[in-house]
Amino acid sequence: MQNKFIARLLLIGLVLWGLTAGFDSIAQETEYILAHQDIFGRLRRPQVNFSHEIHSDTLEDEGCGVCHHVQDDRSGKLVYIEGEELSCKECHVQRKENQIPALREAYHGNCTVCHRQLIKAGKPKTGPTTCGGCHIKQ
Ligand code: HEC
Ligand code: HEC
Ligand code: HEC
Ligand code: HEC
Repeated sequence: MQNKFIARLLLIGLVLWGLTAGFDSIAQETEYILAHQDIFGRLRRPQVNFSHEIHSDTLEDEGCGVCHHVQDDRSGKLVYIEGEELSCKECHVQRKENQIPALREAYHGNCTVCHRQLIKAGKPKTGPTTCGGCHIKQ
């Protein structure tokens, strides 16, 4: 009888642990200050203030995969997997490695290229494309 009770308690514990672990995915901030001295050393340009919230809202239809990706083990292709939105520096580091662009090129290739494409496509909502538009003097 007592064993059964303990077993049940353990089971409930396990289920609760599973539930909370499910919610415990990586936290996302509404604003990011991008200033990776850990990768770039002394920054040559001012930090970049990036609104995750504005981007996620405006790009809702396009989805998180316009910025976040991981490499598929088998095909080697870049794919978006929900719940695996890692910091870019997990894979992009100071210098280009194999086919992986350096962190600076990863950011510029993502941020600036999208803004430019939106301007080219005549979209009403777009972002800065000049150095000082993103690297704003504080
Ligand atoms: C659309 C936004 C955007 C534009 C436009 C842009 N950058 Fe950046 N740049 C970034 C982001 C984001 C980083 C990553 C900053 C970090 O994490 O420290 C970065 C990083 C850098 C870095 C490496 C970090 C440092 O400060 O030493 C340099 C150098 C740099 N940018 C120079 C430039 C120059 C020069 C231009 C104009 C030709 C430019 N950027 C335009 C967003 C932008
Ligand atoms: C316009 C580009 C962009 C879009 C769209 C975007 N993100 Fe991000 N996200 C970023 C950047 C940049 C960071 C900061 C990463 C870093 O530190 O290098 C970030 C950070 C995160 C982090 C924290 C990562 C960590 O390890 O700290 C999570 C989680 C995340 N995003 C989830 C999402 C989800 C979910 C969506 C879609 C609803 C989304 N993002 C849409 C660019 C984007
Ligand atoms: C899990 C590892 C990983 C993470 C995290 C990651 N990348 Fe990448 N990324 C790669 C790899 C690998 C490639 C090279 C793919 C190839 O060309 O074979 C790449 C290529 C790129 C490219 C050039 C190809 C393209 O799609 O235009 C850009 C730009 C880029 N990443 C931006 C980012 C940004 C911005 C973030 C963070 C929001 C990020 N990456 C996070 C692994 C990663
Ligand atoms: C897939 C397209 C896309 C990508 C990738 C993207 N942006 Fe943007 N960005 C936009 C759009 C669309 C807006 C206009 C948002 C609005 O007005 O609602 C914008 C606006 C901005 C603004 C002005 C609004 C603000 O937040 O103050 C800045 C600064 C900016 N982006 C920086 C960045 C940086 C830095 C990155 C890379 C980490 C980035 N963007 C990546 C599409 C993009």
